[in-house]
Amino acid sequence: MTTLFVNASQVVTCAGPGRARRGTEMTDAGVLTNTAVAVDGERITAVGPHDELQRQYPGAQTVDCARGVLAPGLVDSHTHGIFGKPRHEEQELRAAGVGYMEIAKRGGGIHSSVRDLRGRSEDELYALALPRLRRIAAHGVTTVEVKSGYGLTLDDELKSLRVIQRLQAALPMRIVPTFLGAHEIPLEYRAAPRSREEYVALLEHEMIPRVASEGLAVFADIFCEPGVYTLDETRRILGAARRHGLQLKLHADELEPSGAAELAAELGATSADHLAAISEPGIRALAASNTVATLLPGTMMFLGRPKQAPARELIAAGAAVALASDFNPGTSPTVNFPLMLTLAVSQLRMSVAEALLAATVNGAAALGLAADTGQLAPGFSADLALFEIEDIRELPYWYGDHRCARSWVRGNACHG
Ligand code: NIG
Ligand code: FE
Repeated sequence: MTTLFVNASQVVTCAGPGRARRGTEMTDAGVLTNTAVAVDGERITAVGPHDELQRQYPGAQTVDCARGVLAPGLVDSHTHGIFGKPRHEEQELRAAGVGYMEIAKRGGGIHSSVRDLRGRSEDELYALALPRLRRIAAHGVTTVEVKSGYGLTLDDELKSLRVIQRLQAALPMRIVPTFLGAHEIPLEYRAAPRSREEYVALLEHEMIPRVASEGLAVFADIFCEPGVYTLDETRRILGAARRHGLQLKLHADELEPSGAAELAAELGATSADHLAAISEPGIRALAASNTVATLLPGTMMFLGRPKQAPARELIAAGAAVALASDFNPGTSPTVNFPLMLTLAVSQLRMSVAEALLAATVNGAAALGLAADTGQLAPGFSADLALFEIEDIRELPYWYGDHRCARSWVRGNACHG
């Protein structure tokens, strides 16, 4: 049974090769008018002139796009969606001049979310995460990556990953699970009788093997940053992850340059994320690799940090740039992914086409899914988002607004 999406003021296809786009491949997002999209089951079967498609599929059921803009469902490739309480008190502390790392040193930050999550049951965490992910979907996201990382014990990490598994079963969105047991060194491993070395060994020899053997994650991620995990520890932990069949991601060069982006490229990580403090050699290393450079402008904005990631330099060097929300209780408590497009244009100085490709095709590439989702083209998964705007440039323009009317994933209703 064919469904025809008709009467859109614009269809933004992002069509092209099913892989990350780089440099000048990001200048055109494929904005078409008088265009319809045909979907059969889970797949897109045709994108073409309105009249032609209507003639071709006379008995098709139709979805009236009501002169809105039809685009690929957005891909948010970096969230920390499993957590308990909000951390609003830290926002005021930062305003008063206490930095992110200083808050962590005082036992707040990630540690505060860890204490909180350890005290909650799987059911409780599920009940908190479900409406949060629904809100993310309501903004046009059809594929979302969700990390664990606020448990930092075997049981609490497994608990978080099982919540993600339950969300996958409950929600139509495509959810990609990531194990982030290396989010921090837990406080109990910082002084005798335990040591950080013991926690690194626990990650390598117990947590990663167990997560992989239970099939609870596709990716392993790590916060590779001065004061958190060192480059050497990152090599060891991600080496173990790779040996157990997990793909790799890194929180890299978020606050200080340390060679983390270069390491991501060297290890063949699927993505290196943050990069606000990336060095020149880091930019060159990513540009010469297949590692997607995922930028999280909401985080720098919310932390009130002066410098955003050098998107222009990365694109000019030929890196594949993606955008993500970093949804988390500490540094980016937003469910509004289109707002990242606003920040991309207004603060990272990306064009609207670049921002859209970064939020669709390249987001999919950051999850190893670019051959399947992220574009409106025959053969791709029928993942679509309909926005109540006439011109796609309005999506970053009406900043902070909610314009997604409906979305579909694998041809089924996702939102609206
Ligand atoms: O991506 N940088 C590390 N992890 C998160 C923040 C986590 C938190 O503060 O709870 C991030 O910004
Ligand atoms: Fe993050």
